[in-house]
This record gives sequence, C-alpha cells and structure tokens, in this order.
Amino acid sequence: MSDPSALTSEALAAIGKAQTEQELERIEVEYLGRKGGRVSKLLEGIGKLGPEQKASLGKAVNEAKRAIEAALAAMRAELEASRLADLAETEAIDITFPGPPLGRGHIHVLTQVRRQIETVLESLGYQVELGPEVETEWYNFEALNLTVGHPARENWDSFYFNSQLLLRAHTSPVQIRAMQRIKEPPIYIITPGRCYRRDAPEATRLPYFSQVEGLAVDKGLTVGDMKGTLLYMIQSLYGRDRKVRVRPSYFPFTEPSFEFDVTCGICGGMGCKSCRHKGWLEVGGCGMVHPQVLRNGGIDPAQWNGYAWGFGIERMAMLKHDVDDIRLFYESDLRFLEQF
Ligand code: DAH
Repeated sequence: MSDPSALTSEALAAIGKAQTEQELERIEVEYLGRKGGRVSKLLEGIGKLGPEQKASLGKAVNEAKRAIEAALAAMRAELEASRLADLAETEAIDITFPGPPLGRGHIHVLTQVRRQIETVLESLGYQVELGPEVETEWYNFEALNLTVGHPARENWDSFYFNSQLLLRAHTSPVQIRAMQRIKEPPIYIITPGRCYRRDAPEATRLPYFSQVEGLAVDKGLTVGDMKGTLLYMIQSLYGRDRKVRVRPSYFPFTEPSFEFDVTCGICGGMGCKSCRHKGWLEVGGCGMVHPQVLRNGGIDPAQWNGYAWGFGIERMAMLKHDVDDIRLFYESDLRFLEQF
C-alpha cells in the first residue's frame, strides 16, 4: 500500500506532463475514479486500523483528493488557454465563436389580414373554399356571363397557357365551382386566393395580387343582407367608427352591381391627401348574383337567389395599415414587413 503523499506526487507529475484533455480525463479516472481509483484504494485496509490511525489516514486521503482535483482544474484551464491562443494565431476567423442569434420570423401582413377576414366570416357561418389558380376560360369568363367578345373581358385580361387555359383574373370562378360542388343551397362560402392580370406594377396595381370572394346562396336574400354582412366584416377588422357605402356599378355576373367603399382611416371620411380628398376608399365590387350565373352553377334561380363580393386583400391591408403603395407587400423589405 503506497502512502497518500507519494501517490499525490505521482499524480501531480502525470498531470504536469499531460498534453490533452483526454489525457487529463484518463488520469482523473486512474486516481480519483470512484471504484478502483488509486486514491480510494488507499482506504482498503482502513478497517483493521485503530481509531487514531483511521482519522489520520482519512484526512491524508482527503487532502490527496483535493490536491489532485485542483491540479486537474488548473491544467485544464491552461490547456484551454493555449488552445485558444493557438487558434487565434492560426485562424483568421474563429469558427468556434458563437454566431449571432437567428431572428425569429413572423406571419406576413397579407396572410395576417387574410386570416382575420376568414375568422370574421367563419364566425358568421361561412366556409373557406379554394379553387385553382390555373383556370379554364369557361370558369374565368363564360360561366360569369363574360361571353366571347364581351367588351368587359378587357378588365380581366390575364396570362394564357393556350386558348383554353389561363391564370385566373379573379376569384369569382370559385363561385361556380362551389355551387357545382355543394349543389344544394344554402351556400355560404368565402374563397381567398391569388389572382393575375396583365397590368404593369404601379402604386395601386400589380400583375399578381389576392382577392377574397364571398358567395351566399339562400332563399330571399337582399342587398340589405349583403351590406350588413360586409359592414360587420369591415367594422370587425377596422373598428366600429368605419362607415361603408355601395355605389351603383356594373359587373356581368351580378345584377344589380355595386362598388364597395369604406371611410378613409386617416381622415375618418373628412377627405385627406391619402384618399385623394374623397374620404372614401374602394375595396372591391359586390352585388346580387345574376340568375344566369346561378344556372351556370347548377342552381335554380326560381327557387334561390344570392349575393357575392370580391375584395382585394392587398387593398384591405392598405386600408387597415394606411399603406399607400401596393408594391411594398411583395418587395420583402424587412424594414417594411417588421412593422406588422
Ligand atoms: N371579380 C370582380 C373583380 O375582380 C370583383 C367582384 C365584383 C366579385 C362583384 C364579385 C362581385 O363577386 O359580385 O373585379
């Protein structure tokens, strides 16, 4: 049995010669390992000793442990310091240095607005219905009373794949698809999605944008039902102080047809630069579904009638956040997007 101070000197000598962290670990196990460590083994014969010898051996063993632990810690620090010093000399870039934390993203403002619209309309019992962005001429035009050669088709000029297939110019074709799928009214759906038009990008228009279409088909619906629904939606999104109005207009798929305006949020309807002194901002069109459109969807207009609307989601976001250029939504400039 070796004595504690001899064992300590041996251990400290080994630690002093160690070149790597692995060597230190090995030495630690050899001397301080709980089972079979050489320091613990010093206590093996302790049972046979008298009380005084027991106490002094115990003390000596504890001291040996503490001395070896301290030497290990000191040597570890030294090795780490010299590793970093080496690194500083050999690496222009310290690849062990933690990088800046990755920022956490958030939902794009247009998605936020779309989801808010969906939530409000779903609370009224509307269901979200989706349709294809690549659409046939028939759904995009004919089924909506825009027959071949109809002059109003120009307003919805789009991008064609061939003479039958195009990128939809509005979400209105989903009205027809929904009627065909559901078949039996009552039908209460909204259909959000991307639309395309052959327009050059400007402050108020883009060749790609999104709309949210609404369609209600039931018995005895009125313009009042439509206006009340849209007023509820607008006030839920923008606050109780907003007013809405409808103006007579023309769409081939509704009769009567209206433009739908909301009071400007900046001036509260008084008129200011941002609303071009009108006090009102246009968000889209609406009206009572044309009987032929119901028929094209497979619904009997003698029994049922309906109202519909199609609003621009970017427009609605502009209205909500007082944004004056639609292009900002798609430029991915974080200085803009992080505001929402
Ligand atoms: N589809 C029309 C457009 O893109 C908007 C619209 C107007 C939709 C009246 C409707 C409606 O459902 O009833 O300009």
